[in-house]
Amino acid sequence: MLKNDNIFINFLTDLLQNFNKILRGKNEKFCIIQIKNVKEGGICMKIVHISDLHVSGYNFVEKWGNSLIKMVNSLNPDLILVTGDLTDDGYIYEYEKACSFLERFSCKNKIVVPGNHDARNEGYLIFEKIFGTRFPFYQNGKLAILGLDSTEPDIDDGHIGRENYALIREKLKNFEIKILMLHHHLIPIPGTGRERNIPVDAGDVLKICAEEKINFVLSGHKHLPWLWKLENTYFITAGTATSFRLKGYSYPSFNFLEIEKGSFSLTIFNVEKEREEEKFKRSLKIPK
Ligand SMILES: [Fe+2]
Repeated sequence: MLKNDNIFINFLTDLLQNFNKILRGKNEKFCIIQIKNVKEGGICMKIVHISDLHVSGYNFVEKWGNSLIKMVNSLNPDLILVTGDLTDDGYIYEYEKACSFLERFSCKNKIVVPGNHDARNEGYLIFEKIFGTRFPFYQNGKLAILGLDSTEPDIDDGHIGRENYALIREKLKNFEIKILMLHHHLIPIPGTGRERNIPVDAGDVLKICAEEKINFVLSGHKHLPWLWKLENTYFITAGTATSFRLKGYSYPSFNFLEIEKGSFSLTIFNVEKEREEEKFKRSLKIPK
């Protein structure tokens, strides 16, 4: 081998190592830390649910991004859950932009799952490097949250997969409050046009939600907030918080979930108007 070839290989090796260091550094920033203010004997938690930021996309509205950061920071949530589509096409420069955006939230406790846009162009590999896993799990006392990657690379349709059914049952058993989060909606959302991209095995996952008495399923994808209840499970969809791709006369939004023992409230915030738009208070059946 020529000397020049060796120099070139060394250069490439250094470059790859530095690249990995950058990604590992990002990963540390998004690790979940213990939340201290869960009340003994009960559950009291403030969760912000945001989705479909599409930070790097043509339709991203910077003004709405700034409003979102300001509004979320003023709510001082315990946890921020992000149900995918941080990017438009899953490229690394897009992930870098998305990470810089997420870092502006003062709440350091974030759980993120990928959306169909993030999985494009092998973006799911970058996602894994940055966030550590496509299937995050978090538990705190009586509450547990499991994130599922519902994407298939370069396909917009959702898919959970039989291989993950046992994971849902296993991880969430023995908790009082059980939360699943995934990008794709399991139940059609009104006002979002022709139904498409719903996970191909949504029926089987809905059955698991009922059998395992899952309290909440949080999703995004359709860019419109909605609340459904089926059996004892609330299916909450977040709208897009920062993208111009809005359905009809809808508005950019995020969800704020306040969980207490026996009840919860869901507030939908309008990011454009910087105000509370809708509020729902519902009872919460906690399995014995
Ligand atoms: Fe999506």
